Order: sequence, then C-alpha cells, then structure tokens
Amino acid sequence: METVKSHLIKKTKLLKNNSIDLPKLEARLLLAKALNKDLNWTYVNLEKKIPKKKIFEYEILIKKKLKKIPTAYLLGNKEFYSMNFKVNENTLIPRPETEIIVEEIKKNFKNKKKFLVLDLGTGSGCILLSILKEFKNAIGIGIDKYLETLKVARINSKRNNLSKRSKFFKLDWIQKDFFKQVLKINKKFSGNEKFDLVVSNPPYLLKNEINTLMPEVLYEPKESLYDNKDGLSFYKRILPKINSLVSENSYIYLEINPKNRRNIEKICKSNNIKNINYIKDLSGKYRFVLIKN
Ligand SMILES: C[S@@+](CC[C@H](N)C(=O)[O-])C[C@H]1O[C@@H](n2cnc3c(N)ncnc32)[C@H](O)[C@@H]1O
Repeated sequence: METVKSHLIKKTKLLKNNSIDLPKLEARLLLAKALNKDLNWTYVNLEKKIPKKKIFEYEILIKKKLKKIPTAYLLGNKEFYSMNFKVNENTLIPRPETEIIVEEIKKNFKNKKKFLVLDLGTGSGCILLSILKEFKNAIGIGIDKYLETLKVARINSKRNNLSKRSKFFKLDWIQKDFFKQVLKINKKFSGNEKFDLVVSNPPYLLKNEINTLMPEVLYEPKESLYDNKDGLSFYKRILPKINSLVSENSYIYLEINPKNRRNIEKICKSNNIKNINYIKDLSGKYRFVLIKN
C-alpha cells in the first residue's frame, strides 16, 4: 500500500502539470476529504498507508479537479467570515470580498439594540448568517429565487445555530407583488414590516465579462453571476422602491460591479436617493454602495 506522502507527491505533480493553482494544497485538501480527516491529519500522518477504497475516492476527486470543478464544491463547504457554510452547485461560492459588508456593518450597528435584516439573493445565506452571528440582537430574512438554493441556506442556519433568528423564503424580485410580499413575510416573522438593514450581493457581471471568467466559475449557477443584460437589472428593479422596505435611519449595503458604479449612481439620482457612499474592496475597486436612509 502506498502512503499519504507518496500519494500527495504524485497528485501534486499531476495537478501542477495540468495547470491547477496551488497544486500542493489542492492535493492535500482532496486527500483529507477522501479520507474524511481534517487537513492537519494529512501533515502529521505522512507515513500512514491508505486503504484501496479510499484511493479510489481520492482518484475521483482528483479527476473532478482536473476538470476545474471548484474545490469548494468538491469539499461541500466554504469558510466565510470564520464560519463554515455548506455549498453545492445550487449556490454561489461565498467570496472573501463579500466579507467586507459584514465588517462595514459592524461600524454602523455597533450600538444598536435590536434590528431587522433583509438579504436579497441570499444564496448559501452567508451574508445574513454572518451578520446574525456577529449581532446577537439581530434577526433576519433571506430571500432567493430558487428552492434548492434556499435548502442550503436553511442547512447553514441550522449548522451555525441561527435557525431561530433567521427565515428563508422563495421569492423572485422580478415578480409584480415582490415588495408587498416581502413586507407581509416580515410582518409575520418579526411583527414589523420594514427593515433596518438591507444587504445584497446580486448578479452583476456584464455580458462581455462572462468570456473572461476562470473555468471554475462556469460551474457556478449562472443566475448568481449575471442577469444576461447589463448587470443592472437588480438595481433598476430594487432601488426605485427601496424606501418601501426600510425604516427611518436604515442602511442599505449592495455589492456592485465596479464597472457599473456610475450607472448605479445614475439610478440612485433619478430615484432621488441622495445619501450614498462607496466602499472599496481589498484591491482598491469600488465594490459596495452604501445608502443611508
Ligand atoms: C451573487 S449570488 C449571491 C449569493 C450570496 N448572497 C453570496 O454573497 O454568496 C446572487 C443570488 O441571487 C439569486 N437571484 C438571482 N436572481 C434573483 C431574482 N430575480 N430573485 C431572487 N433571487 C435571485 C441567485 O439565485 C443567487 O443565489
């Protein structure tokens, strides 16, 4: 039988020869997954022999990686804001830059006693659930268009002990009575209609950006990534009526495509939304718009 070490060496080489980024780490992560062990185990058990059945499982994972399937999908989870989130092909893989929303919210909601959060296009639930984890007095609703996506968000709320303070609903922001439905759902859930905080990371890629994406990204749900138009559908639909969803002194944090910043500014201006600020991501790009009501 071959050892952990010999397998890691072989598979690292194979991944490297096939232009997989971080081949050493990938080989290790996938071996840990096949063996059902944590990553640490693979560092301290280099001379351990691997049973045949497990080698077979490892080979399958490696083959999938060679097809550029994202590692988060192969592992079935992704860390976001130091929390563990289940992910699958029905959810976008949470991005590290999105964590900035939670960091920014911390600045404005530090002293708030109780507040209500709405997460539009919740996906794995990562934004809403990390806000609730941070603020013990917050409760919130996540909405998404897809039931299969919401199933994952609900599992994540349980996994992180947040199911009492969060609820997830299937709603499409395109539908005619969307705003009415959101208020109704909130009334039932919290006793209030309006929210103190609205967050969203909507689909915002431009059509011509699709051809520039890494092959891994093409495995993610396309409805998470783009609207098949100008990347502005969400903002055009939500911003004109955002006031109907939020209470006085509320905050709205929306992730944006830096390339669409000026267009989003125009949408805000034409809807008389004045108090806007932009927040940069770690690479210095304008990645979020903050609207204070
Ligand atoms: C970019 S993903 C964000 C997921 C998650 N919030 C995150 O940051 O990882 C956008 C989400 O919006 C959802 N979505 C797209 N169009 C929608 C619509 N018309 N109504 C409701 N949700 C929609 C997608 O299913 C997807 O889960």
